[in-house]
Amino acid sequence: MAHPCDCLTDSRQEETAYQTLHQVIVDYDRDPKNLIQILHMAQAIFGYLPEATQRYICTEMDLPFSQVSGVVSFYSYFSTQPKGRHTIQVCLGTACYVRGGKKVLEALKESLGIDVGETTEDRRFSLEVKRCIGACGLAPAVAIDDFVHKRVNPNKLQEILSQYE
Ligand code: FES
Repeated sequence: MAHPCDCLTDSRQEETAYQTLHQVIVDYDRDPKNLIQILHMAQAIFGYLPEATQRYICTEMDLPFSQVSGVVSFYSYFSTQPKGRHTIQVCLGTACYVRGGKKVLEALKESLGIDVGETTEDRRFSLEVKRCIGACGLAPAVAIDDFVHKRVNPNKLQEILSQYE
């Protein structure tokens, strides 16, 4: 059961987050040239960039919504959905691709029931692809958070995923 003060705590956290974002925008002189840096900071503060946060930035910087949302959708780094507790990055660089990276990705999509760019309903995992994660000699590689799993094959996936709560 939810604690009776949870909502209050959430709204206080949100208020503090917006105060921090306001300070970031002021520190960057409300300059449109700094929009990408401001969006990076906003994502670091909120964990993702929901429409409400993008609109707040528009208002504070006096920019049209289309300009901010255009930048957010252009860069794959930015996310408009909350991320999972763990981010899986399947490498589809050349070495990993030819050694079975695509099969690993398909197996992960099926096992998690999500597509690339999505998050499982229980927020346990988000799924992404990368071009190279620097482990070509031990391809195919899959990074989960900061750890790179090497020579991954579909049969190893359940054992790997079970290490993450
Ligand atoms: S191509 Fe996958 S680690 Fe380099």
